Amino acid sequence: MTFVSEQAPDNGKKILIVGSGGREHALAWKISQSPLCQELYVAPGNAGTEKWNVPIKSDQIEELIRFAKEKKIDLTVVGPEDPLSIGIVDSFLAEGLSIFGPSKEAARLESSKAFAKSVMDEARVPTAEYRTFREKEEALAYIGKAGAPIVIKADGLAAGKGVIVANLFDEAIEGVERIMGGAFGSAGNEVVIEEYLEGQEVSLLCFCDGMTALPMVAVQDHKRALNGDMGLNTGGMGTYSPPPFWTKELEKEAVDRIALPTLEVMRKRGTPFQGVLFLGIMITSQGPKLLEYNVRFGDPETQVVMTLLQSDLIPVLEACAKGSLNALKNEWSADTAVCVVMAAPGYPGSYAKGIPIQLPEVDNDSEVIFHAGTVFDDGALVSSGGRVLGVTVRENSLQAAREKAYRLIEKISFPNAHFRSDIGIKGLKTKE
Ligand code: AMP
Ligand code: GLY
Repeated sequence: MTFVSEQAPDNGKKILIVGSGGREHALAWKISQSPLCQELYVAPGNAGTEKWNVPIKSDQIEELIRFAKEKKIDLTVVGPEDPLSIGIVDSFLAEGLSIFGPSKEAARLESSKAFAKSVMDEARVPTAEYRTFREKEEALAYIGKAGAPIVIKADGLAAGKGVIVANLFDEAIEGVERIMGGAFGSAGNEVVIEEYLEGQEVSLLCFCDGMTALPMVAVQDHKRALNGDMGLNTGGMGTYSPPPFWTKELEKEAVDRIALPTLEVMRKRGTPFQGVLFLGIMITSQGPKLLEYNVRFGDPETQVVMTLLQSDLIPVLEACAKGSLNALKNEWSADTAVCVVMAAPGYPGSYAKGIPIQLPEVDNDSEVIFHAGTVFDDGALVSSGGRVLGVTVRENSLQAAREKAYRLIEKISFPNAHFRSDIGIKGLKTKE
């Protein structure tokens, strides 16, 4: 528990962030700079958020409610999808507590891919052609007709690992066998099989209050484990923003054809969407098409977005929760930010924990080492997860931000850390 700002007005805000990743460190870093912030807590947090940490896990909803009441929290901000998908927002609202994030029903946009596709259809959102299957034989027969390349997705949450982009027919068959054979538990009871789309991929996160969608700067994530987009899918190995090929026209198209029609359908269904609607977009030769929705800030998208956000985050979060977003605009830096994730060796497969880490002193706000899977063990900083650090730099060009981020990595002691050395290269290959 920490008083963050001694200058905070008497009616300063008490904020609770739920989660423990790099995304939550980035949110806490940004919120702690707000003159409106009086008290800040992160549950349960990581070593980077230590001074704000409260030892309550993000799925302990009753304990979080008790804490929010006891500390008279003004706003709770939910980072990860799991507490959203089990209804943390509904439970807080039922207790009269203000919270940033979608209800359980609205969170199905992420927690069920079949549900997401049905909303896309109703909202006439441009997306890949698809079919859903509950019977393995039917799914296999469909692939037999459609051929490859093709994309197979487990319906439920699978930590970003339930999607198989099959370039070859055999990979597609194997994918269905794996998903429907129980590799992802009940998340694989239903599969979505969809058309393979080609193009540059962009994450567009939008603040939403049910009616209005306010887009943030666009981000390009790097989901595969290895350089050149090879290897397994991960939660994200690095990001940069903004991508040079993203334009105001594309942003307008994404908001008008994807975000707003989605909000309208959710409203009509009686389950308005409040929080961050994260659009995973493929820029195809026919324009932007939606790959997926997420219902929360992205990780590691948030690390670069928060580094570029110049205006205060607290008013916009509150406006989403209150339904008054249309009165707001955000200010963004004209710089470029790059975040390189340092992961434990072996990630996204099995990896060791407890690896000792030493960090250099960083004393300017354009270079931040965000923590993810870190803890203090007897005062020593050690790794506690797969993605461990997000080395984030803001500079006046993508090239300069990249160079500075990799120079900063050289000063970090983290034995055998795994990171990609090509974060942002796709942006450099197109015009800046
Ligand atoms: P998702 O969880 O649906 O975003 O899928 C994970 C990753 O798989 C995406 O970020 C894309 O890189 C890839 N992907 C998903 N759907 C498609 C598709 N229809 N065509 C090509 N790649 C896809
Ligand atoms: N980086 C992608 C995600 O947060 O799902």
